[in-house]
Amino acid sequence: MAEPDLDPETSSTKRHGIAVIGAGMIGAAHASGYRAHIGRFGKELELHLATVCDTREEAAKSLASTYGFRNWVTDWRTVMADERVRIVSIALPNAAHVEVASAAIEAGKHMLCEKPLALSAAAARGLLDAAKRSGVIAGTVFNYRRFPAIAEIGKLVRAGEIGDPVHLLVQYQSEYGADPNLPHSWRDVRALAGGGALTDLGTHAIDIARFLCGEVAEVRGAAEAIVIKSRFCPAAATSGHDHATLSNERRPVDTDDVTSAILLFENGCQGLLSASRVAVGMGNTLSLVLCGTRGTVRHTTAVAGEYQIARLGGAGGGFSIVPNRPASPFVRDYLPVPHDGVAVGYAEAFGFMIAEFLAAIAAGVPFTNGSLTDGMKAAEVLEAIQRSAASHRPVVLRESGAGR
Ligand SMILES: NC(=O)c1ccc[n+]([C@@H]2O[C@H](COP(=O)([O-])OP(=O)(O)OC[C@H]3O[C@@H](n4cnc5c(N)ncnc54)[C@H](O)[C@@H]3O)[C@@H](O)[C@H]2O)c1
Repeated sequence: MAEPDLDPETSSTKRHGIAVIGAGMIGAAHASGYRAHIGRFGKELELHLATVCDTREEAAKSLASTYGFRNWVTDWRTVMADERVRIVSIALPNAAHVEVASAAIEAGKHMLCEKPLALSAAAARGLLDAAKRSGVIAGTVFNYRRFPAIAEIGKLVRAGEIGDPVHLLVQYQSEYGADPNLPHSWRDVRALAGGGALTDLGTHAIDIARFLCGEVAEVRGAAEAIVIKSRFCPAAATSGHDHATLSNERRPVDTDDVTSAILLFENGCQGLLSASRVAVGMGNTLSLVLCGTRGTVRHTTAVAGEYQIARLGGAGGGFSIVPNRPASPFVRDYLPVPHDGVAVGYAEAFGFMIAEFLAAIAAGVPFTNGSLTDGMKAAEVLEAIQRSAASHRPVVLRESGAGR
């Protein structure tokens, strides 16, 4: 630990210390989100940035100092034992989620856990059950729901503005793994990651598919491929998708680089979902097109400031552009300078999610927009896609009118 927490008011029931566990690539987004939004809940809660935890001491120290957390530690059990910490974000490699999230729930801490919640749907269900029994406020990190354009599309679809959903295309294409010289990491090991592009990126696409079209009844078929079959290990520990000096040791990759699936939803909509981490030039892009009986909406996070809509019989035909504006979801409530033409990107949308999580804690209500149930249901779909790809067969999740 860097320094003792000398705050004298540790006994107030309103006092809530916040800890981020995992100071890698995404731990920084959590830390930044808390830093940006803790001041909003001063009436209900006394929030403070308490601790950053990482087994890499330098990473914990550096994240704590960048975002103003008082302490840093190297063992997550220290966080669980600290009664002043009442809110934790879990931003660890996938295989660690269940153990650390279970410990947080058992310690009575409100908890936001990175996707995928667990390496299996059964383990995700176990977490959900434990959280229900304990009564803590808990959620899964599904930050893409908070891009204002995607949130607004969700509202339009639920209001029936495009009629009944008929055909969804949703894809998450990322470039990070395209370079064969990216070092080998936990993401390349099925036992540590649960899967590759589908688990890492496709989980978000599955969540957006459920967000817009409801429950998936069946995976009619799926295919996965490993494009880069082995990688060199880094000479020293790395974080996220960082390049590094490589050692001479080469290890196999046993997680998918590309996966595609055909989904049939309970409401009869058909979906095509794909995820790639070797998509040259695509940066980090989630895109969607949803056609309904009376209209079509489309969006790409590459142009995060707008979505497009076409309406059956609409004047002039074709698509109209709807830019982010003060009336867009989250913009007036959470964005500094909430005016037309002001950009919203990844970090802002991530922060909107942290703000919603803190708002749920302040109000003492469940966190429903990206709940543990959402995390568990995404895990069920993900597992069904993996089973379909492995067996070359459809996998039925629930009976429905799927396949119109
Ligand atoms: N929501 C999103 O958009 C998004 C984006 C990227 C990653 N993620 C998820 O976030 C999680 C972390 O991904 P990342 O890219 O930040 O990984 P990372 O490898 O960059 O960081 C993980 C950190 O955890 C630390 N760590 C590992 N085991 C630990 C332990 N037992 N105790 C304490 N620290 C430990 C590592 O030292 C590392 O700093 C993954 O589950 C990933 O799926 C989500």
